[in-house]
Amino acid sequence: MQASFDFSGASVLVVGASRAGIGALIARAFQAAGALVTITGVEEQPAEEDRERFRYERLDVTDAAAVRALGGMVDKLDILVNCAAITSRGQEMEPTFFEKVVNVNLHGTFRTAEAFYPHLKASRGRLINIASMYARFGSPRNPAYGASKAAVEQLTKSLAIAWAPDGIRVNAVAPGFIVTEQSARSRTDPVHVANVNARTPLGRWGQPEDIAGPVLFLASEASAVITGTCLAVDGGYSGA
Ligand SMILES: NC(=O)c1ccc[n+]([C@@H]2O[C@H](COP(=O)([O-])OP(=O)(O)OC[C@H]3O[C@@H](n4cnc5c(N)ncnc54)[C@H](O)[C@@H]3O)[C@@H](O)[C@H]2O)c1
Repeated sequence: MQASFDFSGASVLVVGASRAGIGALIARAFQAAGALVTITGVEEQPAEEDRERFRYERLDVTDAAAVRALGGMVDKLDILVNCAAITSRGQEMEPTFFEKVVNVNLHGTFRTAEAFYPHLKASRGRLINIASMYARFGSPRNPAYGASKAAVEQLTKSLAIAWAPDGIRVNAVAPGFIVTEQSARSRTDPVHVANVNARTPLGRWGQPEDIAGPVLFLASEASAVITGTCLAVDGGYSGA
Protein backbone atom coordinates (compact mmCIF):
# COMPACT_ATOMS: atom_id res chain seq x y z
CA MET A 1 0.00 0.00 0.00
CA GLN A 2 1.18 3.53 -0.75
CA ALA A 3 1.03 5.34 2.59
CA SER A 4 -0.21 8.86 2.03
CA PHE A 5 -1.16 9.54 5.65
CA ASP A 6 1.25 11.05 8.15
CA PHE A 7 1.19 9.50 11.63
CA SER A 8 4.60 10.79 12.73
CA GLY A 9 4.77 10.84 16.52
CA ALA A 10 1.57 8.81 16.98
CA SER A 11 1.56 5.78 19.26
CA VAL A 12 -0.46 2.90 17.85
CA LEU A 13 -1.44 -0.43 19.41
CA VAL A 14 -2.80 -3.16 17.15
CA VAL A 15 -4.32 -5.99 19.18
CA GLY A 16 -4.30 -9.29 17.27
CA ALA A 17 -1.55 -8.65 14.73
CA SER A 18 0.71 -11.67 15.22
CA ARG A 19 -0.15 -13.84 12.21
CA ALA A 20 0.87 -11.72 9.23
CA GLY A 21 -2.85 -11.20 8.63
CA ILE A 22 -5.04 -8.11 8.66
CA GLY A 23 -3.66 -6.79 11.96
CA ALA A 24 -0.04 -7.07 10.87
CA LEU A 25 -0.69 -5.31 7.57
CA ILE A 26 -2.48 -2.50 9.43
CA ALA A 27 0.49 -2.25 11.80
CA ARG A 28 2.98 -2.12 8.92
CA ALA A 29 0.96 0.62 7.20
CA PHE A 30 0.91 2.75 10.37
CA GLN A 31 4.65 2.24 10.76
CA ALA A 32 5.25 3.21 7.13
CA ALA A 33 3.27 6.39 7.85
CA GLY A 34 5.60 7.28 10.74
CA ALA A 35 3.82 5.84 13.81
CA LEU A 36 5.41 4.04 16.73
CA VAL A 37 3.60 0.70 16.64
CA THR A 38 3.15 -2.05 19.22
CA ILE A 39 1.41 -5.28 18.27
CA THR A 40 -0.05 -8.13 20.32
CA GLY A 41 -1.15 -11.68 19.74
CA VAL A 42 -1.94 -14.83 21.62
CA GLU A 43 1.19 -16.56 20.25
CA GLU A 44 4.61 -16.53 21.95
CA GLN A 45 6.01 -14.51 19.08
CA PRO A 46 4.70 -12.59 16.10
CA ALA A 47 5.13 -13.80 12.52
CA GLU A 48 8.80 -14.09 11.62
CA GLU A 49 8.81 -11.16 9.22
CA ASP A 50 7.50 -8.84 11.96
CA ARG A 51 9.83 -9.87 14.81
CA GLU A 52 12.37 -7.10 14.32
CA ARG A 53 9.82 -4.62 13.14
CA PHE A 54 7.52 -4.10 16.12
CA ARG A 55 7.45 -4.13 19.89
CA TYR A 56 5.45 -7.28 20.66
CA GLU A 57 3.35 -8.10 23.72
CA ARG A 58 1.80 -11.50 24.16
CA LEU A 59 -1.79 -10.90 25.23
CA ASP A 60 -4.81 -13.13 25.65
CA VAL A 61 -7.78 -10.77 25.48
CA THR A 62 -9.90 -13.19 27.53
CA ASP A 63 -7.56 -12.51 30.47
CA ALA A 64 -8.99 -9.33 31.99
CA ALA A 65 -6.09 -8.90 34.40
CA ALA A 66 -3.53 -9.20 31.57
CA VAL A 67 -5.39 -6.63 29.47
CA ARG A 68 -5.48 -4.25 32.42
CA ALA A 69 -1.79 -4.87 33.14
CA LEU A 70 -0.89 -3.97 29.55
CA GLY A 71 -2.87 -0.77 29.96
CA GLY A 72 -0.76 0.00 33.01
CA MET A 73 2.49 -0.54 31.07
CA VAL A 74 1.65 1.87 28.26
CA ASP A 75 2.19 5.59 28.90
CA LYS A 76 0.66 7.11 25.81
CA LEU A 77 -1.68 5.83 23.14
CA ASP A 78 -3.22 7.70 20.24
CA ILE A 79 -4.76 4.89 18.21
CA LEU A 80 -6.06 1.49 19.30
CA VAL A 81 -7.02 -1.09 16.67
CA ASN A 82 -8.90 -4.20 17.82
CA CYS A 83 -8.24 -7.11 15.46
CA ALA A 84 -8.14 -10.14 17.74
CA ALA A 85 -10.77 -12.71 16.81
CA ILE A 86 -11.36 -16.40 16.36
CA THR A 87 -13.81 -18.45 14.37
CA SER A 88 -14.11 -22.07 13.31
CA ARG A 89 -16.41 -23.00 10.47
CA GLY A 90 -18.82 -25.75 11.48
CA GLN A 91 -17.85 -25.89 15.18
CA GLU A 92 -19.75 -22.95 16.56
CA MET A 93 -23.01 -24.70 17.50
CA GLU A 94 -21.03 -26.31 20.32
CA PRO A 95 -21.98 -24.20 23.38
CA THR A 96 -18.56 -24.00 25.03
CA PHE A 97 -16.90 -22.97 21.79
CA PHE A 98 -19.71 -20.49 21.09
CA GLU A 99 -18.95 -18.81 24.42
CA LYS A 100 -15.23 -18.74 23.68
CA VAL A 101 -15.75 -17.04 20.31
CA VAL A 102 -17.94 -14.37 21.92
CA ASN A 103 -15.46 -13.99 24.76
CA VAL A 104 -12.52 -13.33 22.43
CA ASN A 105 -14.29 -11.33 19.73
CA LEU A 106 -16.77 -9.22 21.70
CA HIS A 107 -15.66 -9.18 25.33
CA GLY A 108 -12.03 -8.97 24.23
CA THR A 109 -12.83 -5.89 22.16
CA PHE A 110 -14.59 -4.26 25.10
CA ARG A 111 -11.82 -5.25 27.56
CA THR A 112 -9.08 -3.54 25.56
CA ALA A 113 -11.27 -0.51 24.76
CA GLU A 114 -12.09 -0.06 28.43
CA ALA A 115 -8.49 -0.61 29.57
CA PHE A 116 -7.15 2.00 27.15
CA TYR A 117 -9.98 4.50 27.54
CA PRO A 118 -7.90 6.73 29.88
CA HIS A 119 -5.06 6.81 27.34
CA LEU A 120 -7.41 7.63 24.46
CA LYS A 121 -9.11 10.28 26.55
CA ALA A 122 -5.74 11.88 27.33
CA SER A 123 -4.74 11.91 23.63
CA ARG A 124 -8.23 12.59 22.20
CA GLY A 125 -7.50 9.42 20.30
CA ARG A 126 -9.14 6.98 17.93
CA LEU A 127 -10.44 3.46 18.40
CA ILE A 128 -10.98 1.25 15.37
CA ASN A 129 -12.63 -2.14 15.76
CA ILE A 130 -12.44 -4.80 13.09
CA ALA A 131 -15.95 -6.15 12.63
CA SER A 132 -16.95 -8.29 9.65
CA MET A 133 -19.39 -8.49 6.78
CA TYR A 134 -20.84 -11.36 8.86
CA ALA A 135 -22.09 -8.81 11.37
CA ARG A 136 -24.97 -8.36 8.94
CA PHE A 137 -25.36 -11.71 7.17
CA GLY A 138 -26.59 -14.89 8.77
CA SER A 139 -23.74 -17.36 9.04
CA PRO A 140 -25.05 -20.90 9.56
CA ARG A 141 -21.59 -22.41 10.00
CA ASN A 142 -20.23 -19.54 12.11
CA PRO A 143 -23.15 -18.45 14.32
CA ALA A 144 -20.96 -17.29 17.22
CA TYR A 145 -18.67 -15.33 14.93
CA GLY A 146 -21.61 -13.56 13.23
CA ALA A 147 -23.25 -12.74 16.55
CA SER A 148 -19.99 -11.49 18.05
CA LYS A 149 -19.23 -9.25 15.07
CA ALA A 150 -22.77 -7.81 15.03
CA ALA A 151 -22.20 -6.98 18.68
CA VAL A 152 -18.82 -5.39 17.87
CA GLU A 153 -20.53 -3.15 15.33
CA GLN A 154 -23.18 -2.19 17.89
CA LEU A 155 -20.56 -1.64 20.60
CA THR A 156 -18.71 0.65 18.20
CA LYS A 157 -21.77 2.89 17.94
CA SER A 158 -22.31 2.96 21.69
CA LEU A 159 -18.68 3.76 22.52
CA ALA A 160 -18.65 6.43 19.80
CA ILE A 161 -21.52 8.24 21.50
CA ALA A 162 -20.26 7.66 25.04
CA TRP A 163 -16.75 8.91 24.30
CA ALA A 164 -17.46 11.69 21.80
CA PRO A 165 -17.41 14.28 24.64
CA ASP A 166 -13.82 13.14 25.35
CA GLY A 167 -12.81 13.82 21.75
CA ILE A 168 -12.37 10.10 21.03
CA ARG A 169 -13.63 8.83 17.69
CA VAL A 170 -14.73 5.20 17.51
CA ASN A 171 -15.30 3.46 14.20
CA ALA A 172 -15.25 -0.01 12.71
CA VAL A 173 -14.26 -1.65 9.47
CA ALA A 174 -16.17 -4.65 8.13
CA PRO A 175 -13.92 -6.75 5.89
CA GLY A 176 -15.47 -9.16 3.43
CA PHE A 177 -13.63 -12.29 2.30
CA ILE A 178 -9.93 -11.79 2.96
CA VAL A 179 -7.02 -14.17 2.32
CA THR A 180 -5.55 -14.83 5.80
CA GLU A 181 -4.89 -17.72 8.16
CA GLN A 182 -8.36 -17.23 9.63
CA SER A 183 -9.97 -17.97 6.27
CA ALA A 184 -7.49 -20.75 5.34
CA ARG A 185 -9.85 -23.57 6.26
CA SER A 186 -12.75 -22.20 4.23
CA ARG A 187 -10.40 -21.59 1.29
CA THR A 188 -9.64 -25.31 1.05
CA ASP A 189 -13.08 -25.60 -0.57
CA PRO A 190 -12.56 -24.58 -4.24
CA VAL A 191 -16.30 -24.20 -4.84
CA HIS A 192 -16.51 -21.70 -1.98
CA VAL A 193 -13.49 -19.77 -3.31
CA ALA A 194 -14.99 -19.61 -6.81
CA ASN A 195 -18.44 -18.67 -5.50
CA VAL A 196 -17.00 -15.73 -3.56
CA ASN A 197 -15.15 -14.47 -6.64
CA ALA A 198 -18.27 -14.80 -8.78
CA ARG A 199 -20.53 -13.06 -6.24
CA THR A 200 -18.12 -10.16 -5.52
CA PRO A 201 -18.61 -7.16 -7.85
CA LEU A 202 -14.86 -6.46 -7.86
CA GLY A 203 -14.31 -10.14 -8.68
CA ARG A 204 -11.76 -11.16 -6.08
CA TRP A 205 -11.01 -11.96 -2.45
CA GLY A 206 -9.43 -9.11 -0.52
CA GLN A 207 -5.83 -9.18 0.67
CA PRO A 208 -4.93 -8.12 4.24
CA GLU A 209 -3.34 -4.92 2.93
CA ASP A 210 -6.72 -3.91 1.45
CA ILE A 211 -7.95 -3.29 5.00
CA ALA A 212 -5.05 -1.04 6.03
CA GLY A 213 -5.97 2.03 3.94
CA PRO A 214 -9.52 2.29 5.30
CA VAL A 215 -8.20 1.90 8.87
CA LEU A 216 -5.60 4.64 8.38
CA PHE A 217 -8.32 6.83 6.90
CA LEU A 218 -10.51 6.32 9.99
CA ALA A 219 -7.54 7.10 12.23
CA SER A 220 -6.64 10.29 10.32
CA GLU A 221 -7.96 13.82 10.27
CA ALA A 222 -9.42 13.02 6.84
CA SER A 223 -12.26 11.39 8.79
CA ALA A 224 -12.51 14.08 11.50
CA VAL A 225 -16.32 14.10 11.63
CA ILE A 226 -16.82 10.36 11.25
CA THR A 227 -17.64 8.43 14.39
CA GLY A 228 -19.82 5.39 15.13
CA THR A 229 -19.66 4.17 11.56
CA CYS A 230 -18.81 0.74 10.18
CA LEU A 231 -17.09 0.88 6.82
CA ALA A 232 -17.62 -2.09 4.50
CA VAL A 233 -14.40 -3.20 2.80
CA ASP A 234 -15.63 -6.17 0.81
CA GLY A 235 -15.29 -5.55 -2.92
CA GLY A 236 -18.98 -4.66 -3.04
CA TYR A 237 -20.16 -8.09 -1.81
CA SER A 238 -22.53 -6.79 0.87
CA GLY A 239 -24.21 -4.34 -1.49
CA ALA A 240 -24.61 -6.69 -4.43
N1 LIG B 1 -9.89 -13.11 7.12
C1 LIG B 1 -11.10 -12.70 6.81
O1 LIG B 1 -11.67 -13.11 5.78
C2 LIG B 1 -11.82 -11.70 7.69
C3 LIG B 1 -13.05 -11.22 7.26
C4 LIG B 1 -13.74 -10.32 8.05
C5 LIG B 1 -13.19 -9.91 9.25
N2 LIG B 1 -12.00 -10.39 9.66
C6 LIG B 1 -11.50 -9.91 10.96
O2 LIG B 1 -10.24 -9.29 10.81
C7 LIG B 1 -9.50 -9.46 12.02
C8 LIG B 1 -8.15 -10.05 11.71
O3 LIG B 1 -8.39 -11.31 11.08
P1 LIG B 1 -7.27 -12.17 10.39
O4 LIG B 1 -7.93 -12.87 9.28
O5 LIG B 1 -6.05 -11.36 10.15
O6 LIG B 1 -7.06 -13.25 11.55
P2 LIG B 1 -5.81 -14.09 12.00
O7 LIG B 1 -6.35 -15.39 12.49
O8 LIG B 1 -4.76 -14.09 10.96
O9 LIG B 1 -5.33 -13.24 13.27
C9 LIG B 1 -6.10 -13.19 14.43
C10 LIG B 1 -5.32 -12.51 15.52
O10 LIG B 1 -6.11 -12.64 16.71
C11 LIG B 1 -5.25 -13.06 17.75
N3 LIG B 1 -6.00 -13.80 18.76
C12 LIG B 1 -6.72 -14.95 18.62
N4 LIG B 1 -7.21 -15.32 19.82
C13 LIG B 1 -6.80 -14.39 20.71
C14 LIG B 1 -6.98 -14.20 22.11
N5 LIG B 1 -7.67 -15.07 22.88
N6 LIG B 1 -6.40 -13.12 22.69
C15 LIG B 1 -5.69 -12.26 21.96
N7 LIG B 1 -5.48 -12.36 20.65
C16 LIG B 1 -6.04 -13.42 20.04
C17 LIG B 1 -4.20 -13.93 17.10
O11 LIG B 1 -3.06 -14.04 17.93
C18 LIG B 1 -3.96 -13.16 15.81
O12 LIG B 1 -3.01 -12.15 16.04
C19 LIG B 1 -10.37 -10.32 12.92
O13 LIG B 1 -11.10 -9.51 13.80
C20 LIG B 1 -11.28 -11.02 11.95
O14 LIG B 1 -12.47 -11.45 12.55
C21 LIG B 1 -11.29 -11.28 8.91
